[in-house]
Amino acid sequence: MKILITGSEGFFGSHLVERLVKKGHKLKCLVLYNAFNNFGWLDSLSKNITKKIQIITGDIRDENIINSAIKNNDCVINLAALIGIPYSYNAAKSYVDTNILGTLKLLEAAKLYKIKKFIHTSTSEVYGTPKYVPIDENHPLVGQSPYAATKIAADQLAISFHRSFDQPVTIIRPFNTFGPRQSARAIIPTIILQILNGNKVLKLGNTDTRRDFTFIDDTISGFEAILKKKPFGEVINLGTGYDYSIKDLVKIISKEMSTKVEIELDKKRLRPKKSEVLRLKANNGKARKILNWKPKYIKQKGFIAAIRKTIDWYSDSENLQNFKGDSYNI
Ligand SMILES: NC(=O)c1ccc[n+]([C@@H]2O[C@H](COP(=O)([O-])OP(=O)(O)OC[C@H]3O[C@@H](n4cnc5c(N)ncnc54)[C@H](O)[C@@H]3O)[C@@H](O)[C@H]2O)c1
Repeated sequence: MKILITGSEGFFGSHLVERLVKKGHKLKCLVLYNAFNNFGWLDSLSKNITKKIQIITGDIRDENIINSAIKNNDCVINLAALIGIPYSYNAAKSYVDTNILGTLKLLEAAKLYKIKKFIHTSTSEVYGTPKYVPIDENHPLVGQSPYAATKIAADQLAISFHRSFDQPVTIIRPFNTFGPRQSARAIIPTIILQILNGNKVLKLGNTDTRRDFTFIDDTISGFEAILKKKPFGEVINLGTGYDYSIKDLVKIISKEMSTKVEIELDKKRLRPKKSEVLRLKANNGKARKILNWKPKYIKQKGFIAAIRKTIDWYSDSENLQNFKGDSYNI
C-alpha cells in the first residue's frame, strides 16, 4: 500500500516506518522542516529501511506541501502533533494551529485526492479523569489541558468528515505508550534517565496518578491491524487494560535498574489541580473485536519485559547521547 505518514520522524513514526517497510508498504514520510537538516529518529534507522522510504520535509499546516504530498497515495496516517501537555499551557495557539488546523488541511487534501484510508491518531488524554473505568470509546470527552482540547477537536473534525463526506476515516486512540526513542519528557524515560544520571532522589510531579502503559510494539501492531481492515467511522482505543501509578513505576524501574531511590516532589512538574488527569485505564474490547488486536506486553511479566527493553535501549551509550543537555535531567 502507498502510505503518507506525517510525524514520521517522531517516537511512534519511526517505529511505524520500520514495521511498515518490513511489511512491504511504500512509504512517503513527512518530516517537519527544521534548520538542522535532520530527520529526527529516521536518521537512526538502518540503511536497509531508509533506502526504501521517500522523505519529504514540510509542515502539515502548509496546504501546498500537503496537497502534493498526499496525492497518489492509498492511505494517510496522521501522527503529526504537538504532544507535550506542559508546553500546551503556554503555547495553546500553536497546538490549535498544528493539531486542529493541520489535521483539517490533511482531511481536506485526502478528500480532494480521494484517499482510500485515513488513520488519525487521537490520545487517551481526551477522556480526562474518568467517570468510570475501564474507559471505553463511549466515555465522555473532557479537555483538561489545551493539548487534550485540540486533540478532541481534531478527532471531531476527522469523524465529521466521515459523517459528512463518507470519508474513510478511522480514529486510533492510544493510551500512554512507551519504549525506545520516546521523548525524555515522558514519565518512563524521565525515571530511567534520572537513575542513569546517578540521581538517588528522583524529582517528579504527582506520583499518585495512574496510567495504562502500552509498549510501542503493541501500539504499532494496532496501526498495522487497521491497515488490514476497514473500520471507517470508528474510534478505537489501544491500551492494555492494566494501570500503574507513577509510584508503582518508580518501584518497578528502580528494581530493574538495581538502584535504591527516593522520590522528591518537584512542584514545577505538578499540573494545575483541575488539569491533572487522575487515571487512565483502557477498555480495549473494541480493538480486540474489530482489529483482532491483543497487546503482548501485559500483566506483570509482560510489562516488566517491556520496561527491561526500554531500560536497555536508554542505557546504550549511543542512544543515551541523544538525551544529553538539559533534557537529560527532565
Ligand atoms: N506518546 C504517547 O504516549 C502517545 C499517546 C497517545 C497518543 N499519542 C499521539 O500519537 C502521535 C505521535 O506521538 P509521538 O509520541 O510519536 O510524538 P512525537 O512528538 O515523537 O511525534 C510527533 C511528530 O510530529 C511532528 N510535528 C509536529 N508539528 C508538526 C507540523 N506542524 N507539521 C508536521 N509535523 C509536525 C514532530 O516533528 C514529531 O516528529 C501524536 O498525535 C500524539 O498525540 C501519543
